[in-house]
Amino acid sequence: MLNQKENIIKSNNTINNHKIVIKIEHLKKSFNGNNVLKDINMIVCEGENVVILGKSGIGKSVLIKCIVGLIYPDAGLLKVFGKEVAEMNSRELNILRTRVGFIFQGNALYDSMTVRENLEFPLRRNKTITDPHVIEELIVDALENVGLVDAIDKMPSELSGGMKKRIGVARTLILKPEIILYDEPTTGLDPLTSREISNLILKIQNKYKASSIIISHDLNCSKITSNRMLILHEGIIRAEGTFDELKSSDDEWVRSYFKID
Ligand SMILES: Nc1ncnc2c1ncn2[C@@H]1O[C@H](COP(=O)(O)OP(=O)(O)OP(=O)(O)O)[C@@H](O)[C@H]1O
Ligand SMILES: [Mg+2]
Repeated sequence: MLNQKENIIKSNNTINNHKIVIKIEHLKKSFNGNNVLKDINMIVCEGENVVILGKSGIGKSVLIKCIVGLIYPDAGLLKVFGKEVAEMNSRELNILRTRVGFIFQGNALYDSMTVRENLEFPLRRNKTITDPHVIEELIVDALENVGLVDAIDKMPSELSGGMKKRIGVARTLILKPEIILYDEPTTGLDPLTSREISNLILKIQNKYKASSIIISHDLNCSKITSNRMLILHEGIIRAEGTFDELKSSDDEWVRSYFKID
């Protein structure tokens, strides 16, 4: 959709008339001398799906945790919807976390709660919707989106891995986020279920016009979901382009990410 290098950022908030929803410049983050993120520069535009590839332990989860203020960068700029996350107070951070949904690596469902209760949880915490009928409608609507209305009274332990992922997506969708951060949505799933989740991510982009960052090692998922891809390596974004551009890159190192053994 967009190639940053070939485009001029015309103002702080748009690039070629696309609204920028996430803007990161010179972001750094270390943990006890471990320089994980050294100089991250990237943008995400409204309605765009950006896939981030990168080896295990390279800092992908750290990067997206910075976007919702779960981890604070040591230096650099990180603006979401035009506002610097590091300067947000707790009220603003709460609002940010309703506008930006986070689907954690692993499922992060509450094991002692039913599917209904898991989905109710963000609404209760958010406190903007209290009418039980409206809550029920939202839960059913979110479950319909992921094709799992029948699971409403089940416990997470009764669900398969793929179903848990879909419930995790439904729980995030319930607050109608404008940005969704997916941390390895298909890891550990069989190829068919992975494809279902990838198609769900695409459906959500089209239905809600949401922008997303999808962290993935899964090339099929990247191909299905991405408008643009970034490769994170040694603390910087080493490569950027569409799936096809990167797959046929002149740089052998870039192409190596697309080899299937
Ligand atoms: N809270 C933390 N405290 C200290 N070190 C951390 C913390 N969070 C992450 N790290 C370190 O930062 C590095 C990057 O971790 P991160 O979880 O972002 O990797 P990743 O790219 O998401 O890997 P994976 O693909 O395995 O999920 C790792 O060396 C990790 O140990
Ligand atoms: Mg991770």
